[in-house]
Amino acid sequence: MRALTWHGTRDVRVDTVDDPTIQEPDDVIVRITSTGLCGSDLHLYDVLGPFLDPGDILGHEPMGVVAEVGSAVTALAPGDRVVIPFNVSCQACTMCAQGLHSQCETTQNHEWGTAASLFGYTKLYGQVPGGQAEYLRVPFGNSLPIAVPDGPPDDRFLFLSDVLPTAWQAVAYAEVPRGGTLAVLGLGPIGQMSARIAARRGVGRVIAVDLVDERLERARRHGAETVDLREHDDVAAVLRDLTDGRGPDSVIDAVGMEAHGQPALKAMQKVAGLLPDPVAQKLIQTAGVDRLGALHLAIDAVRRGGTISIIGVYGGAADPMPMLRLFDKQVQLRMGQANVLRWVPEILPLLVDGDPLGVDEFATHHLPLEDAPAAYAAFQKKEQGMQKVVFRP
Ligand SMILES: NC(=O)c1ccc[n+]([C@@H]2O[C@H](COP(=O)([O-])OP(=O)(O)OC[C@H]3O[C@@H](n4cnc5c(N)ncnc54)[C@H](O)[C@@H]3O)[C@@H](O)[C@H]2O)c1
Ligand SMILES: [Zn+2]
Ligand SMILES: [Zn+2]
Repeated sequence: MRALTWHGTRDVRVDTVDDPTIQEPDDVIVRITSTGLCGSDLHLYDVLGPFLDPGDILGHEPMGVVAEVGSAVTALAPGDRVVIPFNVSCQACTMCAQGLHSQCETTQNHEWGTAASLFGYTKLYGQVPGGQAEYLRVPFGNSLPIAVPDGPPDDRFLFLSDVLPTAWQAVAYAEVPRGGTLAVLGLGPIGQMSARIAARRGVGRVIAVDLVDERLERARRHGAETVDLREHDDVAAVLRDLTDGRGPDSVIDAVGMEAHGQPALKAMQKVAGLLPDPVAQKLIQTAGVDRLGALHLAIDAVRRGGTISIIGVYGGAADPMPMLRLFDKQVQLRMGQANVLRWVPEILPLLVDGDPLGVDEFATHHLPLEDAPAAYAAFQKKEQGMQKVVFRP
């Protein structure tokens, strides 16, 4: 089959690789019809290279049609339409039972001391072959795939794999008081969808921050007030000015480790990408090479006693944090990978009866898988108005 594989920092290629096969009785093989490109893939493309091997298949936002099922699979049959959550989770352990699918105890990675495996996401998360490919092997075939109805186009359901539950969790964890104010930092797909979900769930005001024209424009079209990072030296002060001097009740950081700015750390992330793997792994795990610009802005801007919801991914182990300010302001912090299946039952009704979240128009680009290397480059540079890419293998 054809698959998007990683070969080095900013070097991904579409290769011919072996088809996946059934390995466990409850495996299913899915023929992928649509598969998303995510901001998280950009971390693999650039700074997380030390945790990948050449040939690793990327991608964690797939959907398609069941092609083959193992002997123990009773919940699905060939021909069924399914979306695959990005967490590889068992739905049977203590963590899964609490809706903490990203912490699944069956697939935790003890060698690295990390949480549950993810499709297409580095040795830290199980090095599981990903879904930017023609076929994908999916374990836990009786409970992991989300069966979706035939009829609406793929894009109606595709974002259940990641964007929708991730944004839903970001908003849930932000715990905005009814009618309160939420600032969303970063208007990639995750921030964009968080802003829409927040508005739908009764948040009074959404103030969205980014530095890319069409991303700010898109958030405004969906009812958010916007602040352009490029126009202000002190964005936290701007956010306070907009909220009676107090700051927003809650702030979502939908940016993560590659925040714009902080040139010294950017250089260090580059160095980590060039060092031999074991040395770079150690540097990332011990020295902390995240760029914390967005997180510092969140801490600065949030009102006293307010809540910060970190949904952007961070990876360094010892990043310096302004603990004094966090403690002094009595801030509530929540974070983590999305627990995809935790939120699907709440989201599905918004997809089958019309399209209130605008998912049908959410992707800005639909491309053949063969175009993936060029799409990674353009998405990283935010060129060609690229906001969300869906590949059609
Ligand atoms: N927790 C999860 O389960 C989960 C799931 C999916 C994605 N993510 C993470 O969410 C983040 C966003 O993903 P995405 O797909 O929307 O990616 P993206 O890269 O398209 O979006 C990031 C946005 O942040 C903006 N930005 C950069 N620096 C900023 C700053 N200092 N202040 C405000 N905005 C800034 C960029 O212009 C960009 O629009 C990534 O870190 C990704 O890894 C987390
Ligand atoms: Zn993703
Ligand atoms: Zn589990």
